[in-house]
Amino acid sequence: MDGKTVKGFFSDPVAVQHYTNAAVKVGLWKSEEAVFTQIFDKEDTLLECGCGAGRISIGLWELGYTRMLGIDFCKEMIVEARRLSQLLGYGLSFRLGDATTLQFEADLFDGIVFGFNGLMQIPKAENRKKALKEIKRVLKEGGYFVFTTHDRGLLKRRVFWIEEKKRWKEGVQDPELEEYGDRLFDSPDGKIFMHIPTVKEIKDLLKEVGFVLHQTVLRSELANEPPEVREFSDQCRFWIVRKER
Ligand SMILES: C[S@@+](CC[C@H](N)C(=O)[O-])C[C@H]1O[C@@H](n2cnc3c(N)ncnc32)[C@H](O)[C@@H]1O
Repeated sequence: MDGKTVKGFFSDPVAVQHYTNAAVKVGLWKSEEAVFTQIFDKEDTLLECGCGAGRISIGLWELGYTRMLGIDFCKEMIVEARRLSQLLGYGLSFRLGDATTLQFEADLFDGIVFGFNGLMQIPKAENRKKALKEIKRVLKEGGYFVFTTHDRGLLKRRVFWIEEKKRWKEGVQDPELEEYGDRLFDSPDGKIFMHIPTVKEIKDLLKEVGFVLHQTVLRSELANEPPEVREFSDQCRFWIVRKER
């Protein structure tokens, strides 16, 4: 599994339609709004990585954040995000870009978002670290980066992970998986990659990259999301981190 396979999944018309529906019908989650309005000022220059069809960027624009740029490594998503923004009469900018090799100068953005577990859809730990380093490089000192992940420690999935650990110990795990914690979820559009980390794993990674953890909190602790949000996306964990000197 590599970035190309993930890109192939998100380029498929079914996936593009799914994220377009999300941008139009689901919109910004209550939890996202609570976090973003707490840490970002309306004048901030913001970058959204993995913007898909623009669900988060559009939601932020509607809250008054107009200095927004959304990037995604999937051309089809960018086309759709631009189309929606134009249709709504918003002045949002969307551009093709890969989070592991950001084409921006250092210290450019006041804040950065990589929502809906997008960072964990980058296969291989070394590539996720590369993306985090890039995000830190283009973030201004004192700026916040917000991302979400699943949480391997959640009780709901405890039995699965006990069994999965056994499978890896015995070497009988799904041969398509490269690292422990990786999952390939079935969807109508094929298998989609997701790495499911532990809290410790992300804390260690943040330390290694040099981000300071400001807060980590489960989505359900932030807001009671309406059914359309819970149907679209499972429980997740918010990570609010800061670039300090
Ligand atoms: C789960 S979707 C989320 C889309 C959108 N943010 C939303 O919440 O509706 C993840 C998005 O991240 C993008 N993505 C994955 N890896 C990426 C990378 N390395 N660089 C840029 N975008 C990436 C995918 O193309 C996809 O559009």
